[in-house]
Amino acid sequence: MALWGGRFAAGPDAAFQQFNDSLPFDYVLAEQDITGSKAWANALQKVGVLSAEECEQLQQALEELLGEVRSDPAAVAVGGDEDIHSFVEAALIAKVGDLAKKLHTGRSRNDQVATDLRLWCRQQSEVLQQALQQTQQALLGLAEREQGTVIPGYTHLQRAQPVLLAHWCLAYVEMLQRDSERLEDAVTRLNKSPLGCGALAGTAYPVDREAIASELGFSQATRNSLDSVSDRDFVVELLSTASLSMLHLSRLAEDLIFYNSGEAGFIELADNVTSGSSLMPQKKNPDALELVRGKSGRVVGSLTGLMMTLKSLPLAYNKDMQEDKEGLFDAFTTWQASLAMVTSSLHGLTVNHDVCRKAAQGGYANATELADYLVSKGVPFRQAHHNVGELVQQAIQAQKPLEDMPLEAFQAVVPVIEPDVYEWLTLDALLEKRCALGGTSPQRVNEALKSAQQQQKIR
Ligand code: ARG
Repeated sequence: MALWGGRFAAGPDAAFQQFNDSLPFDYVLAEQDITGSKAWANALQKVGVLSAEECEQLQQALEELLGEVRSDPAAVAVGGDEDIHSFVEAALIAKVGDLAKKLHTGRSRNDQVATDLRLWCRQQSEVLQQALQQTQQALLGLAEREQGTVIPGYTHLQRAQPVLLAHWCLAYVEMLQRDSERLEDAVTRLNKSPLGCGALAGTAYPVDREAIASELGFSQATRNSLDSVSDRDFVVELLSTASLSMLHLSRLAEDLIFYNSGEAGFIELADNVTSGSSLMPQKKNPDALELVRGKSGRVVGSLTGLMMTLKSLPLAYNKDMQEDKEGLFDAFTTWQASLAMVTSSLHGLTVNHDVCRKAAQGGYANATELADYLVSKGVPFRQAHHNVGELVQQAIQAQKPLEDMPLEAFQAVVPVIEPDVYEWLTLDALLEKRCALGGTSPQRVNEALKSAQQQQKIR
């Protein structure tokens, strides 16, 4: 039964009804709608709209309904009601009859849906916090077991300077940490109660909105009824957090896809996150990570979609706002699934240490070292940079790495070069030198790993 209809002479078209109904997707708010309704029933009792017995009867029926929707959430979706609020009211009428018709006194679906959605966001954000943490732990696990592994570091996808694989892992730990902090921050801001704001102007019953807020675990009640029913900033903030995190995951995925390629061959992804080709028997494709990379697009799409929906909407509630949900639900599901895929990809991958080391040694990635060596001999850096450029040019022509060039060749360009240059050019010496805070020296990375592990423990 619809929640309205008295002023209509005819019913809605079937096509309009299908267009208008949100139950097929807002059924996921069932628990939140019931929780909010329980708080509202208590508020109505306190202002004398419901007697103590009536309130108790409603509480029991709502509790029973909560058990039902928890055991079979999907059954709600096929109920045929207009939206989750209509479903809950109809289910209550089926349980307690006319008494249930008192529950909507002083309440609107506008403050109701705003409340439900905030409750949902708060709960789901916890799930995402855990997923973020698991991915961080998988990165820390990889860093721990690959402490000595060196890979080439890239800029412009050209080998630039060698880095520890653990350093790469910790870079993504940092990014996910910021995602987690952003999520926490967004939740702090959204954790306020719009219930009791009515349709737009506030409710005509003298309910204690702060008491309702604290009963629902909100930090306080929102301040302005017009804003409360039309504010979806919190959804935009969460979608923005999800988008940024998906961008991080897409970059991680892309790095691993490249490391796993035949051309790089640094790692091998495990069978459980790869798939084959229907035609080419030799193929083992990194589908899980490609999908993570691809799905980042649709999460950003949900963010831009909602921002366009909200742009220029007049105060207060408009049905356009019903469009906030599908993108949000999809983005959170996608974000969570992507984190899970990245986590299992990290757990299962194996590292080809020799290939990594060889690649890290190649590509003249120790050229900066040679320049630093010249600086240590008193050559100004800009001059040293130029001299080393010439030496690299000669080495390329000789098809040799810098460390295989004879001393005479070095000295012909820069006479101050001595035999100790070869020590400077080794991979280990190069890594050791990157010892300022945040650098890739083994000691710094080890400290960073310890401190990240510690941070995870106290969360
Ligand atoms: N299904 C609606 C939504 O998601 C609920 C609020 C409807 N309010 C209204 N006045 N029609 O936004």
